[in-house]
Amino acid sequence: MLSFNTDGDFKDNYKFLIGSILPRPIAVVSTLNENGTNNVAPFSFFTAISASPMIIAFSPLIRTATGKIKDTPRNIIRQGEFVINFVSEDIANQVNECSCELAYGEDEFKTSGLTPLASDIIKPNRIKESLIHFECKFRDRLNYGDNVGAGQLITGEVVKVHVSEDIYEQGRIITEKFQPIGRGAGNDWIRCTDLIQLERKMKAQMQK
Ligand SMILES: Cc1cc2nc3c(=O)[nH]c(=O)nc-3n(C[C@H](O)[C@H](O)[C@H](O)COP(=O)(O)O)c2cc1C
Repeated sequence: MLSFNTDGDFKDNYKFLIGSILPRPIAVVSTLNENGTNNVAPFSFFTAISASPMIIAFSPLIRTATGKIKDTPRNIIRQGEFVINFVSEDIANQVNECSCELAYGEDEFKTSGLTPLASDIIKPNRIKESLIHFECKFRDRLNYGDNVGAGQLITGEVVKVHVSEDIYEQGRIITEKFQPIGRGAGNDWIRCTDLIQLERKMKAQMQK
């Protein structure tokens, strides 16, 4: 095996992360800018943390081009709320468009063609074309530095879940209908179209 230390260029570490941790689910995070306009951006350093309370986490890195914090965490730290919108195959291109680094205050709904939809509990808008939305209240921030490549863990408590009736049957989200798409290494995106089933060995481990 080849072995590497991690104290060199952050880009090498980044390539190990994105080449190893995959497929990564994508959180499209919508927030409100200071002037009240919308901000929308995808993040694939994203996972579930806790079921009760319902907590998710994602990590926006310091922006390589500017060395500054990204607009999404800036808005969440200030305003305290965000929506996680999930990505089905048919909106992958628009989501990719939302990753463009626009000037602060510019609305990615306008540049991507996605449609804002009011949330029930929080102020930031949801994405109408997305099939699952989590309305979240900001919980914690763990900051790992201010240098380029440094990440920060942002957690949020999900206070409301919205699921399209088209993908929801008998209390379950149907993967084949949801058609989620994940992120791979480089420019790779990964479909979930080749599922296999493995039975859990111990009944006590089964989470029905
Ligand atoms: C599918 C996808 C996943 C991404 N995941 C991340 C991520 O996990 N962390 C990150 O800092 N940037 C990630 N990016 C880049 C951000 O989306 C990009 O920097 C964006 O401009 C941030 O927007 P903001 O400044 O409005 O927050 C990703 C881009 C794409 C297309």
